[in-house]
Amino acid sequence: MILEALNYAATWPLTSAGHRPFIRSSVNLWARANRCRAAWTEHEQRTKAAILEAAEGCRQKRTVVVLGSGLLRDVPIAELSQLFDTVVLVDLVHLANVRSWLKVKGLKNVRLIERDLSGIEALLAGEVLEPLSFLRQVPYLDLVVSANLLSQIGIGVARRLGGQPAEDDRMRQVVAAHVEGLADLPAKTCLVTDVSYTVIDRNGVEHETHDLLHGINLGSSSAHWDWPVIPFGEESRDYRIVHHVVAR
Ligand SMILES: C[S@@+](CC[C@H](N)C(=O)[O-])C[C@H]1O[C@@H](n2cnc3c(N)ncnc32)[C@H](O)[C@@H]1O
Repeated sequence: MILEALNYAATWPLTSAGHRPFIRSSVNLWARANRCRAAWTEHEQRTKAAILEAAEGCRQKRTVVVLGSGLLRDVPIAELSQLFDTVVLVDLVHLANVRSWLKVKGLKNVRLIERDLSGIEALLAGEVLEPLSFLRQVPYLDLVVSANLLSQIGIGVARRLGGQPAEDDRMRQVVAAHVEGLADLPAKTCLVTDVSYTVIDRNGVEHETHDLLHGINLGSSSAHWDWPVIPFGEESRDYRIVHHVVAR
């Protein structure tokens, strides 16, 4: 709790006013990731492996952009920093502990950008959704990674819209805009995302499954696995929640 408060306080002055409301959820994610370290390890390693495979497949390795870089738990940042001339990390918030870690490691070619990647403002204004169009301005872009971000975008937008089921269509638009935005880029892309979650009891009985992508089909994937996001004891003694993840 004290470490969380310190991380929150240290991140505050480093974050623009508009993004400060997101610090709390990043700190909460950091705390949960630490508590669930053992359960999340395989997912983090598989995500890193998918990103590295995409990186190694790039003919040129000038600039890589990582969307949803967050805590850098599932991003092979040291390897990307070695392989590419420039690494750009984009997230709503870059926590103070992540910034310090990058400094300590001396990863001098890493740049941080605070940005909302959901396109919510355009959605609310009734404008065309092009949340990734800013990437067209990035010079020498060879790889764009979406690192376990896509489902979170949908969740954040649902929260802003009040979580009404009738809003499903707007969430579908947001998810589709991210997928189409990646497809339109003049660079190789690597999308890793959880696509659904299932609530499972101690007898292995599956109680409910939810589609995190609101009906958007990602097509074929190069790898897929389960991520036990909420193990027994994290939220309930009797249930765990497992997310299904795909990489492509
Ligand atoms: C599940 S975490 C991804 C973990 C991260 N790749 C890591 O290695 O720690 C989702 C990340 O997406 C970010 N995020 C959620 N909604 C976002 C949005 N609308 N724009 C930008 N980043 C967002 C969160 O801040 C969080 O860091």
